[in-house]
Amino acid sequence: MNREELLEKIDKGFILEGKEDMNDEYFQALKQTLTIVADTELLSVPPLLTVYEEAPSLNLKITALAVMQDEIGHAHIAWRLLQDLGEDVQSLMFGREPNRWKNPYAFDFKLDNWVELGVFNAFFDRAGYTLLGDAYQHTTYGPWKRALVKVDKEELFHLRNGEVIMRNAMKKPETAKQVQEAVDWMFLMALEFFGVADGMKSRSAQLDYSLKGKTNDELRQVWLSTAVPFCEKIGVKVPAHYDEEQEKYVLEVPFPCEFDVENKKWNFDKPDTWEGVIKRFKARGPQNKEFVERVRKGHLELENLRKEVV
Ligand SMILES: [Fe+2]
Ligand SMILES: [Fe+2]
Repeated sequence: MNREELLEKIDKGFILEGKEDMNDEYFQALKQTLTIVADTELLSVPPLLTVYEEAPSLNLKITALAVMQDEIGHAHIAWRLLQDLGEDVQSLMFGREPNRWKNPYAFDFKLDNWVELGVFNAFFDRAGYTLLGDAYQHTTYGPWKRALVKVDKEELFHLRNGEVIMRNAMKKPETAKQVQEAVDWMFLMALEFFGVADGMKSRSAQLDYSLKGKTNDELRQVWLSTAVPFCEKIGVKVPAHYDEEQEKYVLEVPFPCEFDVENKKWNFDKPDTWEGVIKRFKARGPQNKEFVERVRKGHLELENLRKEVV
């Protein structure tokens, strides 16, 4: 099927159910999207694992484990969809160099404390919820749309869990300080999730074929429209506000901006370009290798055990 024919069908509400419904361009865009989703879901777990033992109560610890279990489930859904499309999931999972994984840069860092896990959920799961909520609403790929019913509800639980941790942490000065410190580096990280500015690229196949509905900048605005009021309400400072005249959220710091990886701090006196950001993404963050190895550890151990037995 050529591009025009498929676009016309999609315009009339056609939902694709399998490879036979696609042209190559659609297939490639879908494959790329699902790989990013699978990698992102799975690699959200290792940073959470770095601090979950510090949970202040058994209830909170169980909640953190439930979040991680959900994420593994979400990753499984995306891998399964890729497998059904004929992709070699084994080699994607075990044959790729860690720096080839497509998870967000923000997931290549250890968390410093329990409160940071709360901000991670409140900000990054909110970004996931924003992106996947848009996909759920607009995607033309039927199997993904149906799977997202469950994912959407669980992401909402994750971000609410983060909000509860943040709100409670704001009650004591020492933990309120940790909230602010986490927000200071995670706020722009969350905005980077949505990718390069709209003006930087021509319309993508993802949008043309309605794998997603909103542009990167529109999705950033959706994220800001819930994250900023929440932070303002609980007394956390964020570098953004709603501008009545422009009728949108505006940032009060340079974005994109250079990031000091070692100190997890933005160099606000050094604005960056999206080319610079992509270069940083490609260089990966400090825990990239360790975290990818972490999620493959069990499988490799089992393989070695098998070899010993044989
Ligand atoms: Fe998820
Ligand atoms: Fe999540």
